Amino acid sequence: MAAPTKLGRVLCRTLPRVSSSLRSYCTAQEPPPYRPRRALMYVPGNDERKILKIPTLDVDCAVLDCEDGVAANKKDEARANITRMLDEVDFGRTECVVRVNSVDSELADDDLLAILRAKNLPSGIMLPKVDSVEELQQFAANLNAAVAEIEANPIFNLITMVESARGLMNLQAILEEAFNLVDMSPFRLAAVTFGSDDFCADIGASRTSDAKELMYARQKVVVTAKAFGLQAIDLVSIDFKDTESLRRQSEEGAKMGFTGKQVIHPLQVPIVQQAFSPSPERVVWARGLIQAFQQHQQEGKGAFVYEGKMIDKPSLLQAQNVVQLAEAVEPSGSQQ
Ligand code: COA
Ligand code: MG
Repeated sequence: MAAPTKLGRVLCRTLPRVSSSLRSYCTAQEPPPYRPRRALMYVPGNDERKILKIPTLDVDCAVLDCEDGVAANKKDEARANITRMLDEVDFGRTECVVRVNSVDSELADDDLLAILRAKNLPSGIMLPKVDSVEELQQFAANLNAAVAEIEANPIFNLITMVESARGLMNLQAILEEAFNLVDMSPFRLAAVTFGSDDFCADIGASRTSDAKELMYARQKVVVTAKAFGLQAIDLVSIDFKDTESLRRQSEEGAKMGFTGKQVIHPLQVPIVQQAFSPSPERVVWARGLIQAFQQHQQEGKGAFVYEGKMIDKPSLLQAQNVVQLAEAVEPSGSQQ
């Protein structure tokens, strides 16, 4: 059997749900179980009360924020608080990620030091406003230097953010470089997140409730992330009291191929997590389709009719996606 390529080894470590075309890379080791990030909730790093609430919220991923959710004069307070909270709070099933400031801001190094001061390191780091390959290289060098100073040998899930026209244009090159850096850096690439409000400000667009001004950018983020087998996290809805429009927007994002969505308020968590989970009816449909497909293959039929519709190989792949996602999110019990 051929040895897996470098990209293949990376995918093995980072991608539980590799597409069948990528699966052949994964011969060396079993991928880790898929970690759903249907809702990715920001919590300002200086707000102890909100951080202490996280374990009660049944949220897939909580992001302790050092960046824009924290006022400029509260950055030090947020860092000290995050170090302490990482050690004191049991986040339960929730993945804990820290969002550092952008490389460009020159605040990120102090954020990294605060993270690495904790005994309980977060499982992930989120890097905002990644506009260029050089910024990612700088981040990797800084993270390497900081990790060299501690005893532990962490491997962080890295979640990058696209938040500008440049970041969007350079996304492919940035992700390629991230895979190149993996062998010599303490991270593995996990997801790409679309920072819609900074993006709108950057291109001079106005946010509308149906987000049509962002359709091209969202599709480009999904397609590029998926080309690398990564999770894609959709835009945030800042109008957190409008739960109906959140539900519509979440369902639309899920249909576009996003695997999750950013949220800012506990009210948004169950709505978003449900929208990014297949419904019980859809799972029944998918399991039935897979079984029917296998039967028809044995009878030598590539195309057949199932529940009134023509089915062939692409429908099988979609049904397999549904079943895999349902199995991945089942333990949280949030699908009911
Ligand atoms: N994480 C955890 N708990 C949160 C929360 C969050 N992001 N947002 C609100 N809560 C808690 C509140 O503390 C409150 O709990 P309490 O009654 O026990 O105090 C409860 O949920 C209801 O909150 P509510 O009173 O409706 O909202 P708020 O006025 O406290 O906060 C925001 C509103 C928008 C300021 C707050 O949701 C927030 O800070 N969100 C994150 C913002 C952010 O990080 N932005 C940057 C990324 S886009
Ligand atoms: Mg932003």
